[in-house]
Amino acid sequence: MTPLLPRKILVTSALPYANGAIHLGHLVEYIQTDIWVRFQKMRGHVCHYVCADDTHGTPIMLRAEKEGITPERLIARVHGEHLRDFAGFHVAFDNYHSTNAEENRIHAEAIYEKLKSVGLIETRTIEQFYDPVKAMFLPDRFIKGECPKCGAKDQYGDACEVCGSVYAPTDLKNPYSAVSGAQPELRDSEHFFFKLSDPRCETFLREWTRGGTLQQEAANKMQEWLGEQGDNKLSNWDISRDAPYFGFKIPGTTDKFFYVWLDAPVGYMGSFQNLADRLGLDFGDYWQQGAGTELYHFIGKDILSFHALFWPAMLKFSGHRTPTGIFAHGFLTVDGAKMSKSRGTFITAESYLATGLNPEWLPYYFAAKLNGSMEDIDLN
Ligand code: MSP
Ligand code: ZN
Repeated sequence: MTPLLPRKILVTSALPYANGAIHLGHLVEYIQTDIWVRFQKMRGHVCHYVCADDTHGTPIMLRAEKEGITPERLIARVHGEHLRDFAGFHVAFDNYHSTNAEENRIHAEAIYEKLKSVGLIETRTIEQFYDPVKAMFLPDRFIKGECPKCGAKDQYGDACEVCGSVYAPTDLKNPYSAVSGAQPELRDSEHFFFKLSDPRCETFLREWTRGGTLQQEAANKMQEWLGEQGDNKLSNWDISRDAPYFGFKIPGTTDKFFYVWLDAPVGYMGSFQNLADRLGLDFGDYWQQGAGTELYHFIGKDILSFHALFWPAMLKFSGHRTPTGIFAHGFLTVDGAKMSKSRGTFITAESYLATGLNPEWLPYYFAAKLNGSMEDIDLN
């Protein structure tokens, strides 16, 4: 039955990083979203499906450097590759943009300024590992060393792949920079934080979590992050990175950039803004506080905290609408294990298509296995 009034729905999939190829794991999400969007369109609803490449951050900056090209060149090339792969599987985005775009910069800055004006941004000096040869602060995954627990060599700065223990990079024995090999030194730097621990955020998130926006498993996870009533477990979120960094400069600073995860979800807005400008749609219709439209995000379970904690709080306190629903899915495994290059189970979209296999078989296979839970699904 056709409804009397069509619903107006904005749908997103997570923005894939611009430093790697689309693989079958990614496709679980884009195919799941695509099926859902096609269904809503067939029902006669107005439905916009937007996405973009997630282009900022240290890994992309270093990868471009290694290839001897600018980050802009790299992300332009990967944008083409991603579009080609999605088209190969008939994923029908209404818009596929980039986070390194003017629309995104404008919205990211506006949200930041608003959060600052309501007292939700603070600065604090933190101590961090610095690579004296490369002259840059090192993200955790670019610091390696010996595991403080079991002594395994060449472990990453956040966790040991041998014994599974989790630690801070400063706990590593004989740490070295994965970029230059140099011994890192601790240096002070001023960072910007989004004050998620503020009681306003806590109150809002406790209520929002119970509002039917999340799957039961996701709501349980949120409960863990929030802590019991009266025992706020939320901590402030570090949203800045020091130069050199490929990203947007923080207004009012000369050498501080927004952490990639600040402007990545804003990329949903940026992509929609780009679409709205092209089609003459009303941006505020979908993003203003109290908008009568619906907003859904499809994501993988690994990025739930960004979408169910930081993002709704950013939206709420910058005066925007909050998401109607977040749909988190599990991970794709191959033959029961994490996809692995060495086992030959890391299958890219490109290599699937190159075999000549019908691309329609994959959506059929995923659709038969997917459900509304966060359980992993296996390709075998
Ligand atoms: N750039 C961030 C998302 C920013 S959204 C504002 C990111 N990129 S990603 O390329 O690593 O992942 C994109 C999406 O694909 C995520 O939702 C992630 O969960 C999903 N998947 C990546 N590998 C996957 C599997 N093996 N299986 C299922 N989904 C997977 O995270
Ligand atoms: Zn270990």
